[in-house]
Amino acid sequence: MAKQFDVVVIGAGPGGYIAAIRAAQLGMSVACVDAWTNAKGKAAPGGTCTNVGCIPSKALLQSSEHYEQAEHHFAEHGIEVKGLSLKLDTLLGRKDTVVDQNNQGILYLFKKNKVSFFHGTARFNAKVDAGWSVKVDGPDAEELIAKHVVVATGSSARALPDLPFDEEQILSNDGALRLPKVPKRLGVIGAGVVGLELGSVWRRLGAEVTILEGASEFLPAADRDVSKEALKAFTKQGLTIQLGAKVTEVKTSAKHVKVKYTDSNNDEQKLEVDRLIVAIGRVPNTDGLGAESIGLKLDDRGFVQVDDDCRTNLPNIWAVGDVVRGPMLAHKAEEEGVAVAERMAGQQPHVNFDTIPWVLYTSPEIAWVGKNEQQLKKEGKDYRVGSFPFMANGRARALGNTTGFVKILADTKTDEVLGVHIIGPTASELIAEAVVVMEFRGASEDIARICHAHPTLSEAMKEAALAVDKRALNF
Ligand code: NAI
Repeated sequence: MAKQFDVVVIGAGPGGYIAAIRAAQLGMSVACVDAWTNAKGKAAPGGTCTNVGCIPSKALLQSSEHYEQAEHHFAEHGIEVKGLSLKLDTLLGRKDTVVDQNNQGILYLFKKNKVSFFHGTARFNAKVDAGWSVKVDGPDAEELIAKHVVVATGSSARALPDLPFDEEQILSNDGALRLPKVPKRLGVIGAGVVGLELGSVWRRLGAEVTILEGASEFLPAADRDVSKEALKAFTKQGLTIQLGAKVTEVKTSAKHVKVKYTDSNNDEQKLEVDRLIVAIGRVPNTDGLGAESIGLKLDDRGFVQVDDDCRTNLPNIWAVGDVVRGPMLAHKAEEEGVAVAERMAGQQPHVNFDTIPWVLYTSPEIAWVGKNEQQLKKEGKDYRVGSFPFMANGRARALGNTTGFVKILADTKTDEVLGVHIIGPTASELIAEAVVVMEFRGASEDIARICHAHPTLSEAMKEAALAVDKRALNF
């Protein structure tokens, strides 16, 4: 006998599990299905973000940052470390514990909110009188019937043609989080978020890292001042970044990976490394979903086609997160998940795609929201710029972390904040203030008039806002 629910959510990543919880809060009976299984054979809800993305990479970034501090920066504080050594298995074990805590946290939240969790792979089966039939294969094999179905199946790393991931030598974001040994030479293809974050982790732990980026520009989505500052900082730290590199051949042997590529002058170059991370973007997970069996429309790149409200072409089937258009960011997926649950309950929520923050958890961190200067120029918009360097911020000097700046772009006529771009310490946290101001359509003067605690890094935000009106006080 099939089990009946108001809602079945396929996928328990940030889009899916949040949609399930919100739907349950609104009084619906909810099932959430997820196939992810950890090394111990147990269900591991949380998707890419929790298992092989945001969470484990932040754990490794933290550990490797501590190691680098101890190795290179403690001495400035008068702290001498003798016999520093790295226990990689402990470091990786801590990361696995952090992941497990998050998996368990989601299972706890499901229980608390009375969401029924099914461990297995779900696929669309048929349209039935009561809604949609979904079949679950795996440990919790079952037929589920629901009025609403939310597809939140996420995405997977894109491989280079004819170079499948073996997770030993050719690594996706997954294998790159569990190398058993620090490689002497590590190659990375793609200087995007994954390449830069994971390249930074292994460089700090001692690898020589070379990143080959196909585009001629570094971080083209960032404000140009930020990408310039970032390239300077990463290069100074010892990351080798080759722009305009077109990979022509990759060959693996028992010990090495040999990469041939043409550089920005079209000259042929060779790179020999021990391991190669391929981080050239991601593809939506729709294989095996049974989309064709019910006529669910995908676009030509395999994304589930949705409107602005995450409605698919079929009644009461919704899709959120990486499997639909828009940035592949956990927090964008969460917002869509909440909005879909509220729409199912007859509410009229709104997701503002213009105020979704972007964050790179490198060191220095990079974060932005809204438009950058290149975009405003292209749109012919009149704007004023206010910038403030962390070098002039007392807290940053005390931290010993003065790289970077806050840059605010505001409308010349109305002073409305159009974009905020930060590179520097805790940019990922500081950006929240900018998001709030932009969500309320605030002006740079609003930020400038708010009292910011002293001494904090957030004063750089206030000073950048003052600088829009050419009246920064500390620079
Ligand atoms: P990405 O789209 O950020 O970067 C891919 C890079 O690879 C681009 O710079 C692109 O020009 C380059 N590229 C593409 N094909 C290439 C080729 N054949 N040879 C050389 N370079 C090539 O993708 P990435 O880093 O794989 O991340 C995937 C997704 O995961 C992103 O959409 C991102 O939003 C999300 N993510 C977000 C994080 C965050 O918010 N901090 C962290 C990690 C991932």
